[in-house]
Amino acid sequence: MTDAGALARVLPATARVNGRGHLEVGGCDLVELARTYGTPLYVYDEATVRARCRAFTSAMGDRGEVLYSAKAFASPAFLRLVASEGLGLDVVSAGELHLARVAGYAGDRLHLLGNNKALEDVAAAWEARATLVIDGFHEFDLLRRVVPAGHRIRCQVRVSPGVRPRTHDFIATGQLDSKFGFSIEAGAARAAVERALGHDRVELVGLHSHIGSQIFELAGYVAAMEILLDLMVELRRDLGFEPERLSAGGGLGIAYTRDDAPPSPERFVETLWGALEGGAARRGLRVPRLLVEPGRAIAGPAGVALYTVGAIKEIAGVRTYVAVDGGMGDNIRPKLYAARYEAILASDPEGEVGGPVTIVGKYCESTDVLVVDARLPRLRPGDVICLPGAGAYCLAMASNYNGMPRPAVVMVNEGRARLIRRRETVQDLLATEVL
Ligand SMILES: Cc1ncc(COP(=O)(O)O)c(C=O)c1O
Repeated sequence: MTDAGALARVLPATARVNGRGHLEVGGCDLVELARTYGTPLYVYDEATVRARCRAFTSAMGDRGEVLYSAKAFASPAFLRLVASEGLGLDVVSAGELHLARVAGYAGDRLHLLGNNKALEDVAAAWEARATLVIDGFHEFDLLRRVVPAGHRIRCQVRVSPGVRPRTHDFIATGQLDSKFGFSIEAGAARAAVERALGHDRVELVGLHSHIGSQIFELAGYVAAMEILLDLMVELRRDLGFEPERLSAGGGLGIAYTRDDAPPSPERFVETLWGALEGGAARRGLRVPRLLVEPGRAIAGPAGVALYTVGAIKEIAGVRTYVAVDGGMGDNIRPKLYAARYEAILASDPEGEVGGPVTIVGKYCESTDVLVVDARLPRLRPGDVICLPGAGAYCLAMASNYNGMPRPAVVMVNEGRARLIRRRETVQDLLATEVL
């Protein structure tokens, strides 16, 4: 790569330049993969997924549990891999719960979250015997309709600690003005716990919080933990309630560009544990089991997106547009969060870079831009471009906008590639249409 050391941090762990001078991941040549499976193509590196899972689970040890947040990427083959590493799972709908069951997840490893659960979501959680993370007073009514008299469903109450982490505004979820969680500051958290304790279908086992996503500054978690511990003091004093489990959510950031330097999973877990254990000791509280639920930090670094270059439009003195065969339909993040990416020429990752180019998609929107001012060798139609850090919240949010079928996905490991999701066809576009 032009700047091999710096780009290593955004690529999967097994990425290297092979004897042909091509970029390879998991022992598979990315140019070959593009040829075999077509593009756009998403490639997941099994070794990186496993390494990321292990970084969290070994840091956690037996002090708590690591759940993978399925919303980041929920293909059953991927979930099976995560399950084989011993992670539990958090899901946000009956649909994700179904994918988890297909992947073989036992209900007791599942947590169902969501700020507006439908009756079907709560029913699916009950049927699976999953833990329900309550996020609104209306759920208490749903629970009475779903859970038979004489039975209780394991629940946690999601609270909002009022901390605003330094991240993109649109992905900060813990502040007061948020649709997620019962606000501690406004007294709703205490009221929800009281209601849960008095509910004959609820077994209240813990609290839950999640302060945001793509977070690099762990101080926000420490601040949130202090607020949660103060709440626990109040709940013990007033309601006699002490949580067995405390979920601190997910949100650990990953490197998308060479300038990003996120904390490691180990530091994330240790910081949370230190804040929990130390804060509980200072307040004379029993230390609950710690739960964390990373999504992006597991799936994100393991995935790369491959695109083929098509039209190239040079506007002298202004900009060169390089159009690829995907875009906002498979990766909405640049448009949604102003997300930034690196771009690498798969056939010549170490080639000498030319002037900056803007990589755009093929969708009928001016804002369908993947990378602004990418630094790449001179490109020609047919070249394969690799976008690292594409494993989370890309395909998970993919659409069929403009009648575009969604990409295929392969999992690579030790020189073998395995199709885990076939490319959609135009026939798939008609699957739900009533003609
Ligand atoms: C409640 C909850 N937990 C976990 C996550 C996972 O976040 P991330 O993928 O940033 O780790 C999210 C993301 O939105 C979330 O809302």
